[in-house]
Amino acid sequence: MTATPLAGRVALVTGGGNGIGAAVARRLSAAGAAVVVVDRDGAAARSVAADVGGTAVRADLAAPDGTRTAFARAEAVHGRLDLVHLNAGMLSGTPDLTELDEARYRAVTGVNIDAVVFGVRAAIPALRRAGGGAVLVTSSIAGLTGFDLDPVYAMTKHAVVGLVRALAPTLAGQGIRISAICPDFVDTGFLGPHRHLVTGGPVLTVDAVAEAALGELAGGESGRLLVLRAGGEPTPYVFAPA
Ligand SMILES: NC(=O)c1ccc[n+]([C@@H]2O[C@H](COP(=O)([O-])OP(=O)(O)OC[C@H]3O[C@@H](n4cnc5c(N)ncnc54)[C@H](O)[C@@H]3O)[C@@H](O)[C@H]2O)c1
Repeated sequence: MTATPLAGRVALVTGGGNGIGAAVARRLSAAGAAVVVVDRDGAAARSVAADVGGTAVRADLAAPDGTRTAFARAEAVHGRLDLVHLNAGMLSGTPDLTELDEARYRAVTGVNIDAVVFGVRAAIPALRRAGGGAVLVTSSIAGLTGFDLDPVYAMTKHAVVGLVRALAPTLAGQGIRISAICPDFVDTGFLGPHRHLVTGGPVLTVDAVAEAALGELAGGESGRLLVLRAGGEPTPYVFAPA
């Protein structure tokens, strides 16, 4: 597939205040795109947006209103939207379902699943208005494997893999590509107090993940699930026929 030049494009990155999202926002800006940085952490979003000369939007994406606000703001400020990286996410933080309280469950499914569904729903008309574009979802290696350290997180990341696979053919007919990155552990603050869940071994840098993300946004094959591992080349994951 031919790569779309990123210069002059308008991109929206969720969870753009920290970690992978912040690295993607910086790379997009360096490639000449205007970037809308969306995060519930308003100070972090403002800081990254200031660095890249972009627009910050503070929004809790676990609620549909958060997504609506972010997309409306992007088009209001920049007049169009071409690229969307639905990247915000969190862990449930426990391997033990009996320890999972309902508030945490709603928060995790709210950002890891609902925000992706509502984000794609908001992206489709916006990208159509721009004449086409690309949506990238941050899933995880836990979206392809049985990640016993956090089964609810694994469930949410499997869910968005299914959404990407199912939507790709339909969206292709509308000039919209959708794909997902599935990284192994990445060196961000994501794990926080749950860092003990990492059992050792190399971790990806945010730059390696951001480089792969830009490749997908610029010209990834629709429906692709790109596995990212420390020290390895990005590799498309292929399901066995059912
Ligand atoms: N770090 C890893 O090891 C790893 C591995 C695979 C996949 N991922 C995925 O990568 C994505 C980014 O994670 P990261 O490692 O950069 O983590 P991070 O914690 O550094 O960044 C995540 C960002 O998302 C924001 N966010 C969380 N919930 C939100 C909500 N409801 N509304 C708006 N913003 C919200 C946070 O404020 C934060 O800025 C996540 O989807 C995560 O599941 C991370």
